[in-house]
Amino acid sequence: MKILAIGATGFIGLPVIRQLMKQGHQIALFHRGDTTASELDSILHFYGTRHQLPNFKAEFERFAPDVVLDIIPFTEAQAQAVVQAFSGCTQRIVAISSGDVYRNYEGLQGQGKHPPDPVPLAEDAPLRETRYPYRDLEGLDFDFKQNYDKILVEQVLMNQPELPGTILRLPAVYGSGDRQHRFLPYLQQMFDRQPILLEEEQARWRFSHGYIENIAGAIALAVTDDRATGRIYNLGEASTPTLVERIQRLGNLVDWQGEIVTRPKDQLPSHLQMNLQWRYHLAIDTTRFREELGYVEPIAEEEALQQTIAWERENLTATSPE
Ligand SMILES: NC(=O)c1ccc[n+]([C@@H]2O[C@H](COP(=O)([O-])OP(=O)(O)OC[C@H]3O[C@@H](n4cnc5c(N)ncnc54)[C@H](OP(=O)(O)O)[C@@H]3O)[C@@H](O)[C@H]2O)c1
Repeated sequence: MKILAIGATGFIGLPVIRQLMKQGHQIALFHRGDTTASELDSILHFYGTRHQLPNFKAEFERFAPDVVLDIIPFTEAQAQAVVQAFSGCTQRIVAISSGDVYRNYEGLQGQGKHPPDPVPLAEDAPLRETRYPYRDLEGLDFDFKQNYDKILVEQVLMNQPELPGTILRLPAVYGSGDRQHRFLPYLQQMFDRQPILLEEEQARWRFSHGYIENIAGAIALAVTDDRATGRIYNLGEASTPTLVERIQRLGNLVDWQGEIVTRPKDQLPSHLQMNLQWRYHLAIDTTRFREELGYVEPIAEEEALQQTIAWERENLTATSPE
């Protein structure tokens, strides 16, 4: 197959491209050229920022991708530009979305007026009623923060009669290259032989995760399997443990004998008091993807955690002072 991927040289995209290359597909990449890897040298690159995508239409028509994979669609305008750039020259657009589309996400942020929706959340669970979820969020800064909304991205891409889409809602992705270092705060306390302090309700919170190599395999499958046409899928682990269970699993793998201590919010030190409503779980149901496309994780959870721990240890060694 011929596949053109937008923004696929970073944390999520690079392992997807590796898998697609291994499967023998012909790949082209569109990105600015700031993030790359020597293993991608032999591939065709189109260099530009994504708002310039429609200017490349003639080049894209010459490459004639069967499928376009957009790893980084954040705004409604970006989704519209993708449609404009690829209408008439590809058969399908696969786009990366997020579990933040669900209504429980705005509940978690304290913005919802509804009780928690039961989990796990399947693809037809209620979506956020508010828009632009990061616009007013303090302490978070990224390009397109003002206009970010994956619900609007999904709506644009799933409503093109001539150009079908596939939407992949990602969980919290962890593993080598994760700039958020999702497990590092817990691992650091385990390495320092410290107890771990959590808010009582936070300890019971469920948040779906996915190991980067497994998520990459799932994305590659959705790109190459036509049965994904016109479908929305949650991706992630098959079942979602509570936070305390996840920390215990990590602790077992580093032989940590310490204790997880839980306290009501007002008895926690102020730096651990988070302004989140933990009764709104973000556990998603991945049954549809498994049943329709026959997906099975190539890497089991224990190995995924071990590889992530090894990567975090390497980083700590590389960055710690003499
Ligand atoms: N990490 C998670 O837990 C998680 C969870 C849910 C959803 N997601 C989704 O995953 C995606 C992020 O993927 P990632 O972590 O792989 O991102 P990343 O590591 O930041 O990589 C960004 C990629 O996009 C390219 N790029 C950045 N800005 C660009 C622009 N303006 N125009 C063209 N190309 C641009 C970069 O290459 P150049 O620098 O060369 O341009 C690179 O290829 C987002 O859609 C996010 O919503 C992630």
